[in-house]
Amino acid sequence: PDTTASLEGIRPTADVPRRLFGSFVEHLGRCVYGGIYDPDHPTADDQGFRADVLDLVRELGVTCVRYPGGNFVSNYNWEDGTGPRESRPVRRDLAWHCTETNEMGIDDFYRWSQRAGTEIMLAVNMGTRGLKAALEELEYVNGAPGTELADRRVSNGIPEPMGIRMWCIGNEMDGPWQVGHMTPEEYALAVDKVAHAMKLAESGLELVACGSSSAHTPTFGTWERTVLTRAYDNLDFVSCHAYYYERGARNLQDYLASSEDMTGFIATVADCADDAKAAHDGDHDIALSFDEWGVWYSDVWNQQEAEWKAAASEGLHPEPWPKAPHLLEDIYSAADAVVEGSLMITLLKHCDRVRSASRAQLVNVIAPIMAEEQGPAWRQTVFYPFAEAAHHARGMVYVPALDAPSVHTEAYGDVDAVEAVVTWDEHAREGLLLVVNRDVEAAHTLSVDLSGLPQADAANMRVTHAMMLHDDDPHRQNTAEQPDAVVPVPLDANAADGRVSFALPPISWAAVRFS
Ligand code: AHR
Repeated sequence: PDTTASLEGIRPTADVPRRLFGSFVEHLGRCVYGGIYDPDHPTADDQGFRADVLDLVRELGVTCVRYPGGNFVSNYNWEDGTGPRESRPVRRDLAWHCTETNEMGIDDFYRWSQRAGTEIMLAVNMGTRGLKAALEELEYVNGAPGTELADRRVSNGIPEPMGIRMWCIGNEMDGPWQVGHMTPEEYALAVDKVAHAMKLAESGLELVACGSSSAHTPTFGTWERTVLTRAYDNLDFVSCHAYYYERGARNLQDYLASSEDMTGFIATVADCADDAKAAHDGDHDIALSFDEWGVWYSDVWNQQEAEWKAAASEGLHPEPWPKAPHLLEDIYSAADAVVEGSLMITLLKHCDRVRSASRAQLVNVIAPIMAEEQGPAWRQTVFYPFAEAAHHARGMVYVPALDAPSVHTEAYGDVDAVEAVVTWDEHAREGLLLVVNRDVEAAHTLSVDLSGLPQADAANMRVTHAMMLHDDDPHRQNTAEQPDAVVPVPLDANAADGRVSFALPPISWAAVRFS
């Protein structure tokens, strides 16, 4: 083998947080309308939810879903999506320049989540609203019956408190595109007050402050330091957002090494969180909520946005306000799946700091699940690495010591050609090895020594399931017509004396379950 990996003497990083396998549903394009909700679809259930989409959400293994935005939340009135559908107001959404019918809102999303079996991470509007609306929404959602807002929920058909623990206080408030965007100082003051008051209402909440909208903003680092230091006492999480795509990188090899950027992002934000704790002589760590990550061909959206803005400049009101248009419907390739596989490995490797994450988004919009109008729902290439980790990463995380050949990248210098992580449930004696070969040219043979895992029975260790995702054409995609063009195939992996060996072609992702 040209790559060896060993767990000898390696201590576990942390337990696998279930919330690491979260996703994101935003009122954007056809994510909600035509995605999770479509009463005219042949599979629609009694609530108008697409049953075929729900089946795939469960198959994906999603644990927690962030809602309702995203940029959308920054000019959203949560009350608009409650009460009888026929009396809900129709409004303009400034974030995506669409008409919002409010046929879906928090009541409906709560019902959808119960059917999907997912926790909700709820975001509040810090753009056009703030403290008062956040407190009222909290009372409506979680309040025990007997107060005006909690009773309004009861009369809207939900007698029990929704029990939503995790709340995002705004979205990307550093971004100049965000409705009501703020300076670091303005947001630090605002989030401190909102978080403080929300915890007066319910001390057990887990509150997430906006971090930087990427690691490449002018205020990256300063934003986190200012916000976390000011609001330390009232915060549990800080959010991180990162999207990657091939045209956004210098070349395919650099794109495949995108996890290097994510790794640096995590390190910087973790340092800021530690500094805030030290400044307060604090008693708790602020964890990272990587609540938007994935592959997004964002140049396509930037172009679309520039076009309607140019058209708008010719008159006062010429722009369209479409309902549920096709937006951000990226179709992913085999290489995209390998990159997402390596991002998932990175999140697992750093799960001592990253305690929650949401792959963005869930359906139709930069999504692992596509839902055809009147047609079936199908799995994109990126579906598979997520689903494998969500269903089979259990127990503790171990980062093996790697001895691997390197590949050269322009952005990150020389990096390991191979990335790997192991999870191990020592009680069930079941483990998962996730690996990517991110080398654009060479195949690599691997030998991973798993005998150092606690309670492992090296002599009897066996591979229970092994699969690989790869295509000789890294740009091959699944499509509505050919939804199974790129799917995982069996991987020939052998175990002997606690050592698992296999070969990986260039640009590939693999998963090996063992016991
Ligand atoms: O996920 C798409 C958008 O990306 C979100 O609305 C926003 O938060 C981010 O910029």
